[in-house]
Amino acid sequence: MPFSALLPSLIIALTIVLPRSLGHDEQKKPARSGEAIYQTYCATCHGLNFEGGKAQSLIKEIWQFGSQRYAMRDHVNFGIPTVGMPAFGAALTSEEVDNVLDFVVSKQGVEPTANPSARREVPKKVETELNTLEVEVLVSEGLDIPTGIEFVDDRRALITERAGGMHWLIDGKLDPKEIQGLPPTWYFRDAGMLDLALHPEYEDDNNGWVYIANSHPLGDSKDRKAPAMLQIIRGRVNDYDWIDHEVIFSIPRNDYTVSSIHFGTRILFDKKGYLYFSTGDKGVPENSQDLFSAQGKIHRLHDDGTIPQDNPFYNHPTDYKSIYTYGNRNPQGIDQHPATGEIWATEHGPMGGDELNVVRPGLNHGWPITTYGKNHDGTIISDKTEYPGVTPPIHYWVPSIATCPIAFVSSKLFPEWENQLLLGALKYQEIRRLVIEDDKVIKEETLFQGYGRVRELKFSPDGALYALTNNPDQLLRFSPKK
Ligand code: HEC
Repeated sequence: MPFSALLPSLIIALTIVLPRSLGHDEQKKPARSGEAIYQTYCATCHGLNFEGGKAQSLIKEIWQFGSQRYAMRDHVNFGIPTVGMPAFGAALTSEEVDNVLDFVVSKQGVEPTANPSARREVPKKVETELNTLEVEVLVSEGLDIPTGIEFVDDRRALITERAGGMHWLIDGKLDPKEIQGLPPTWYFRDAGMLDLALHPEYEDDNNGWVYIANSHPLGDSKDRKAPAMLQIIRGRVNDYDWIDHEVIFSIPRNDYTVSSIHFGTRILFDKKGYLYFSTGDKGVPENSQDLFSAQGKIHRLHDDGTIPQDNPFYNHPTDYKSIYTYGNRNPQGIDQHPATGEIWATEHGPMGGDELNVVRPGLNHGWPITTYGKNHDGTIISDKTEYPGVTPPIHYWVPSIATCPIAFVSSKLFPEWENQLLLGALKYQEIRRLVIEDDKVIKEETLFQGYGRVRELKFSPDGALYALTNNPDQLLRFSPKK
């Protein structure tokens, strides 16, 4: 073939190759230091002080995905999508990828300066704007990433753990004996036993139903590559035995996927007896807009798992007529407003864009068409925060605080907070108080900060506020100081 015949394809090949290698700013801007890159892009998940958090610490003896430099470079450039490690190839030059890896490798063998929160002693008293809180650490040993608490009566509560354990709390003390006979839980990263709820008539004779959001594996629960999906199950706890097990919500086996991120899940019974639960997008944003997918939604059911006929998609051809709202990313907080009766929910944004939403039938909350967040490498997911048919959040947080539980206040111990919203954050390790007027957050106060990732907030029958945290794992009780 004469050279002239090759020329057009050569030009095409060059124009494809050139802009990337030259236009990548590699020659122009000086490369950022490994430490600066770590703090900007990696610390959110791997820990500000290498203590880990959403992902494992990078100071480690065993690299799960390979310790060779080429493997680590690939992980940073292309990400590890099934586990939620983002790709940074677009944000970092190749020199910068090596800088951050050099920085990480140079820290190997160094004692992590953190977990700072694990070592901090919880104060006995906290001054807030409207009151003084007395803080008690009820449980500091024996819990393994607690996810939910429900009070069955004045003295006893049930606590779930992400790894699939369930315990009694009796008179403020953790009973170390686990409840037996629970189904297997696929416990990996965001998945596991994620919350529990009591039937509104739990105390009536012949009721006693306890509902659990459980990540159910197809196959071996210890197989980290097994497909796993949310099931809502119910059963009764008879002393230390889980009995009368039933599956209330599950998805067809064909729809199971392998991914360990964004499982949601929070469960709530409203005062009318409807059961709400949230699902995350499982790391596939398109799921959230797809009405034929159960993921990235808030669902509504009757207590026995049947579908309310007035559900917004009851007449839609979808298999998931339980869908109540869509366009949700990863909601992990849900509660009912004590005065209006409306359901509110929080969800995690990507980098930025955590949201607070009011859950109304059929709403599209926008993910991933609209968002206030960006990808973890700083690239744009969507430049839109508004879009026809999308209901914007009541409130959003940039940067992300990692919004988790919410609890509206209706407690005789806290009349000064009546109808306000308390919110727990994972990354920011905070409990915040939000004052809401006409569906707007008009004030936020951080009440408590830096003593663990706040996973659950609940008021006990006597009106005190209970908070479950992990990193460190503990149960805290807040009451007004007399
Ligand atoms: C959104 C969260 C998130 C961010 C941000 C993030 N990572 Fe990761 N990373 C993960 C997860 C999840 C894993 C899987 C490992 C685990 O936690 O078990 C992972 C794994 C890794 C691994 C492989 C670890 C192994 O055991 O083989 C490397 C290397 C890594 N990350 C480097 C980085 C670097 C460097 C940055 C910043 C440029 C970064 N990560 C930012 C979530 C994140």
